[in-house]
Amino acid sequence: MCGIVGYVGSRVDGRALDVVMEGLARLEYRGYDSAGVALVADDAIEVRKRAGKLANLAGEIAEHPLDPSRTAIGHTRWATHGGPTDANAHPHLGGPGGRLALIHNGIIENFHPLRAELLAAGVQFRSETDTEVVAHLLAQEYDGDLTAAMLRVVARLEGAFTLLAVHADQPGVVVGARRNSPLVVGLGEGENFLGSDVAAFIGYTREALELEQDQIVTITPERVDVIGFDGEAARGKTFHVDWDAAAAEKGGYQWFMEKEIHEQPQAVADTLLGRSDGAGRLTLDELRISEAQLRAVDRITFVACGTAAYAGMVAKYAIERWTRIPVEVALAHEFRYCDPIADDRTLVVSISQSGETMDTLMAVKHARDLGALTVSICNTHGSTIPRESDAVLYTHAGPEIAVASTKGFLAQITACYLLGLYLAQLRGESYADDARAVQAELQEIPGLITDVLGRLDRVREIARFMADTRSVLFLGRHVGFPIALEGALKLKELAYIHAEGFAAGELKHGPIALIEPGQPVFIVVPGPDTPHGLHGKVVSNIQEIRARGARTLVIAQDGDTAVEPFADEVIRVPRTSPMLQPLLAAVPLQVFALELSNAKGLDVDQPRNLAKSVTVE
Ligand code: F6R
Repeated sequence: MCGIVGYVGSRVDGRALDVVMEGLARLEYRGYDSAGVALVADDAIEVRKRAGKLANLAGEIAEHPLDPSRTAIGHTRWATHGGPTDANAHPHLGGPGGRLALIHNGIIENFHPLRAELLAAGVQFRSETDTEVVAHLLAQEYDGDLTAAMLRVVARLEGAFTLLAVHADQPGVVVGARRNSPLVVGLGEGENFLGSDVAAFIGYTREALELEQDQIVTITPERVDVIGFDGEAARGKTFHVDWDAAAAEKGGYQWFMEKEIHEQPQAVADTLLGRSDGAGRLTLDELRISEAQLRAVDRITFVACGTAAYAGMVAKYAIERWTRIPVEVALAHEFRYCDPIADDRTLVVSISQSGETMDTLMAVKHARDLGALTVSICNTHGSTIPRESDAVLYTHAGPEIAVASTKGFLAQITACYLLGLYLAQLRGESYADDARAVQAELQEIPGLITDVLGRLDRVREIARFMADTRSVLFLGRHVGFPIALEGALKLKELAYIHAEGFAAGELKHGPIALIEPGQPVFIVVPGPDTPHGLHGKVVSNIQEIRARGARTLVIAQDGDTAVEPFADEVIRVPRTSPMLQPLLAAVPLQVFALELSNAKGLDVDQPRNLAKSVTVE
């Protein structure tokens, strides 16, 4: 939510603007209401900013070119305080003559009293943002040392923020500060970078430095200095980014989402890679929690939001089955405020692709305060949630840039399975019979996803025919239920169509009243060998809605002929054991939503009102 880039470099003479614009293009998925840049050039700050997408800013710069500079900051915004207008776009200027420029991601919660104080002191505001308050405070505090001024200002701020500032008196310096909002440093030679995530500078360096909470960083072409909000010198942790700029580009696809859907076999394979010893035993060495502690766990709670929470729902079915440990799934924003029960035998597992979702971060902190063990399932190295957790199990999906999660989701489910199988392995005697079989079968899944991806022309056709549809329902049972929810979420966010997912068994308790002739309904059918006769029950549910005129779009396994008499369309996926079916059944629903969005001429990668990484509560 909001993308931030900062650059200083003596090597790239005058190209600071290009570096920052390239970074913004890579971060635009984080917010796209408005964008702006500030450069330090010829003893002055120059700013260009525009409401709307980055292309508008590029147009503005083409019309009103900027002077060459070696120091620049840039921002792409997801509006919180103040609508998406030119005036509210960042950077904001502070001080007489506007010699200081500031960009911000997050929310300054005490901005009202601070604004009142500044107004009383005669400061004139040009925007409605909370950010401008900080720009003026920083300008007031500035006495020749931007880092020292930042230190004094952050002490007065409440809320979550990443701030980057430049001052005309200090060319060649960018100062950043972070509290509960993301900021990483890119380490170059004769140049250094700041970014909301490593995508901001991946075209220039793959060496990065993680910052901790409540730290201030000062970059110059030659130095990176970090201090805590207490003023004490600190050291960040360096890391190497294991993907390159090509991974953050579309690679010939029309949309990032399309590319990411096609990367799913690799995302799952890479998430499985290196996590077993070849003799059938899982080795999750990176889970830095002792085996004894993990064996003692008597309750597991998943905390996550949106798609990631649906991965947690899939995990509940699998982990309870394999370990017999009670598992609950909580929306992270509800968990924190529902007086949750957790202690040192509770394992709280957060799932977050970005590692920055504020709701999830706050849930993790709350869980830690309660004494729980915390594990993060995360796709982004250097992000906040893993750092705030006792241990992390990384998914290896590579950068996910489309706002709607796809490969991140399948990689999350895969990591959840690994975690569940590992806990089952540790508990030994209670290792459910099917867990070992599933572990072996997981290795086949990447190939089966590739198979699914090769069969989806009919799904695309159906989506194109349905461009005018106003409502679509999704049904599933057991692990198919979260997939139904995910199918509905994808359609809502990408095609702006009313869509709802239900547990198929719930139908007769209310939702069946929605069925009228022609109502499209997707049904995720469990495999015929699913225990407890679930397959037969779902087939009955299909009959019930078909009898009331629904148009039934059935996702069924190869060879499942029982669904045919009641299906208007059958979308086939390969056979798998019941627990692994989500990794296949989710894919046609992703493609359906993408194609329908495309058919309506919408922006698949950047749907309206959304942002990739939701760093406000
Ligand atoms: C939907 C989607 C969101 C995210 C949610 C959590 O396609 O992407 O629902 O899953 O905002 O994001 P992360 O996983 O980054 O915490």
